[in-house]
Amino acid sequence: MSVNRRVLTLDEFTIQQLRDFPNATGELSNLLRDIGLAAKRVNVEVNKAGLVDILGDAGSVNVQGEDVKKLDLFANNQFMGVLRHGISCAGIASEELDDVVVFDDEISNNSKYVCLFDPLDGSGNIDVNVSIGTIFCVYRRITEKGNPCEKKDFLQPGLKQVAAGYIIYGSSTMMVYATRRGANGFTLDPSIGEFTLSHPNIICPENGKIYSVNHGNFFQYEMGVKKYIDACQKRNKTNGGPYTQRYIGSMVSDVHRNLIKGGIFMYPATTDKPKGKLRLLYECNPFAFIMEVCGGKATNGKERILDIVPTELHERSPFFVGSRMMMEELEESMKLNG
Ligand code: AHG
Ligand code: MN
Ligand code: MN
Repeated sequence: MSVNRRVLTLDEFTIQQLRDFPNATGELSNLLRDIGLAAKRVNVEVNKAGLVDILGDAGSVNVQGEDVKKLDLFANNQFMGVLRHGISCAGIASEELDDVVVFDDEISNNSKYVCLFDPLDGSGNIDVNVSIGTIFCVYRRITEKGNPCEKKDFLQPGLKQVAAGYIIYGSSTMMVYATRRGANGFTLDPSIGEFTLSHPNIICPENGKIYSVNHGNFFQYEMGVKKYIDACQKRNKTNGGPYTQRYIGSMVSDVHRNLIKGGIFMYPATTDKPKGKLRLLYECNPFAFIMEVCGGKATNGKERILDIVPTELHERSPFFVGSRMMMEELEESMKLNG
């Protein structure tokens, strides 16, 4: 009797991907499964955030001077924990940690990958029941196996990412990850506690009608951005506008929506924050990679995000990401108006 298998779990999917690569070691599959496990643990805590004393500030300030919420720390520890105890990751970097953490044990020193993450993105929204997320990316280490990994393994341009992804703790919980071969989305089925393939081979529509930006900062944006926002609010021959403005303040949710429906997300430089707010290594790069794999684009307003060679772990960058044609219209406006 044949069993009608309509859904693949994340674990089944990552294992199946190996079939096309007879020489693959399975290390990336292991790593993605570890991340999926940590995500499930974080999901449980996020879901009961209103019930237990896990809401609110932890009472400290993270390396970037922002208030640290208790769930940020919990999530950080979960992701760090699974990766440390797994067999595929030589070390990690996180928004919540000042410096890289080198695992430095026999197995980790022989692992192929390093992983960077923002354990909870949009954490200012935790207290008010709005979707939040986790962002991660994976690089092949450039230092030799057999030794502890080093900071230079983490300071690679985004172009070198092997995989990148995010988890949304939303009305349902989803994990999306991309490799050069494509991007796929998995929705957590609470009845079996497994991520199951729900969005195979995601493609970002080449055009869209949604623009996402913090309008409160409008007067601090450079002219090219202001003019583009202006154009979003008008109807012209080519754009089919006016567009719809949507801004949750959780980048994971904002970019996820725009990836699926078509749209553009912007966090430009402001006069107060000339380098923008978002962190290049574990916020911009993963989304730039995912968006490009799905057919979209990502820039800092001047150059492609994935080409930037980072110099610091926590450096910030202006960030523009989304549907190809909307990005091209923005680029044109920034070129013309500065
Ligand atoms: P984090 O919670 O990791 O610090 O990131 C929050 C980020 C991002 O998710 C969001 O798009 C942006 O901050 C919102 O910032 P503004 O409130 O300045 O618009
Ligand atoms: Mn963040
Ligand atoms: Mn965060």
